[in-house]
Amino acid sequence: MENKSLGSTDFIVIKAIDDGVNVIGLTRGSDTRFHHSEKLDKGEVMIAQFTEHTSAIKIRGNAKIYTPYGEIESEAKK
Ligand code: TRP
Repeated sequence: MENKSLGSTDFIVIKAIDDGVNVIGLTRGSDTRFHHSEKLDKGEVMIAQFTEHTSAIKIRGNAKIYTPYGEIESEAKK
């Protein structure tokens, strides 16, 4: 994967706590839109980077997110 401007610390790990977690990649540049949506079921893990194409990642549903800055949990709407 081409990744000139970002360091290797930019990986994040997403672990689904429940079924149906969505990991959504948003485009880099003046036009910010969804470009990819990945569905994770309970226990599944996705390891992702910020890239030339991806400037933001939105996570929907219950998941644990591990980043170089710390860990956080996303929660589904109750
Ligand atoms: N083709 C995408 C890219 O290189 C793949 C990708 C990287 C992605 N990080 C992501 C998709 C985070 C969803 C979420 O940018």
